[in-house]
Amino acid sequence: MIESYEKAGKIVSKVRNEASGLIKDGLAIIKLVEFVESEIIKEGAGIAFPCNVSVNEITAHYTSPPNDENIIKGGDLVKLDLGAEINGYIADSAITIMTKGGNDLNDDEINKNEDLIGASDAALEAAISAVKAGVEVSKIGGEVEKVITNLGFNPIRNLTGHSLEQWNLHSGLSIPNFEDNRPGILEEGDVLAIEPFVTDGVGYVVDIPKVNIFKFLKIRPFRLPYTKKVLNHIKGNYPYLPFSFRWLTDEFSVNRLNSTMKELVDSMAIYPYYTLREKSGAWVSQKEHTVIVEKEGCYITTK
Ligand code: CO
Repeated sequence: MIESYEKAGKIVSKVRNEASGLIKDGLAIIKLVEFVESEIIKEGAGIAFPCNVSVNEITAHYTSPPNDENIIKGGDLVKLDLGAEINGYIADSAITIMTKGGNDLNDDEINKNEDLIGASDAALEAAISAVKAGVEVSKIGGEVEKVITNLGFNPIRNLTGHSLEQWNLHSGLSIPNFEDNRPGILEEGDVLAIEPFVTDGVGYVVDIPKVNIFKFLKIRPFRLPYTKKVLNHIKGNYPYLPFSFRWLTDEFSVNRLNSTMKELVDSMAIYPYYTLREKSGAWVSQKEHTVIVEKEGCYITTK
C-alpha cells in the first residue's frame, strides 16, 4: 500500500514538473490537459481525476470540454492540479505558474501574482511542518491562515484539503485553510492532500454554471435506453473516481450527451463538480502536496 502511494506520488511529481515547463503564452488548455493525462497513463498509473487547469479567478474544477478553445495567455496565473493512482492509491498535487511572455500586466500586478504564489508555497510548507499524529485538523488550518494573512492575503475559506483512501479521493477528513474549530485529529497512516488557496479577494469561491467533471453515484432507473447505456458505461469505466465529459465523447456524441448528463445529474445518478470562481473575481494561487501522516511528522509523496 505504501509502495503504491509512493509510486503514484513519483509519477504525479514527474508529470507535474514536465507539464509546468510547457505552460507559456499561446498554449491551448486542452493541450496541457491531454499531455498530463496521457503522461500519467504512459507512466503506468491510472488518472485519479481529470487534469484541472484553472486560470486566474477560476479557482478549481476546470478541465477542458471537448474542443476547448481556451488559450493560456502571458501573465495568467495558471493552477495545474493533477492526480494519479496505483491500485487505487492516489497522489494529488497542484502548482501555480505565472505564464511568461507577452502580457499587459504592470510591475505591481506581476509582483502581486508572484507574492500570491509565494504565499501558497509558504502556507503549504507551514501546514506540512505542522502535520503529525495527534494534531487537530483545525490547527493545520490555523497555520495556513496565519501565514497567508501575515502576507496580507486571504485563504479561500470554503475550499479544503482532504484525506485519501483507496479509490476514494475525498474520504472522511477535511483539512481547512483557516482555524475553524472543526473536529478531527490526524492519525498515523492517514493520507492527506493539503491544498492552501490564496487570494487578494474576499476568500470565497462560488459555482459557475459550467460542469466538466462528474462522479458516478448510483444506478437509477431510466426509461430511455440511451440514458441507461451512458450510465452503464460510466459505472463500468469510472465507478469510484471523478471523470470528465470529454472522456465520454469517444463513445457518445456531444449533442446527445449534453441532455443525458443533465438528466443523470437531476436524478442523482452522477454528481456534478461545478467550476469554481473566486467570489469577488480576484485571482487565486494554489499549491498542493499529498502526505502520509507519521508519528513525528509526515512523508511527502508528491515532492
Ligand atoms: Co488536487
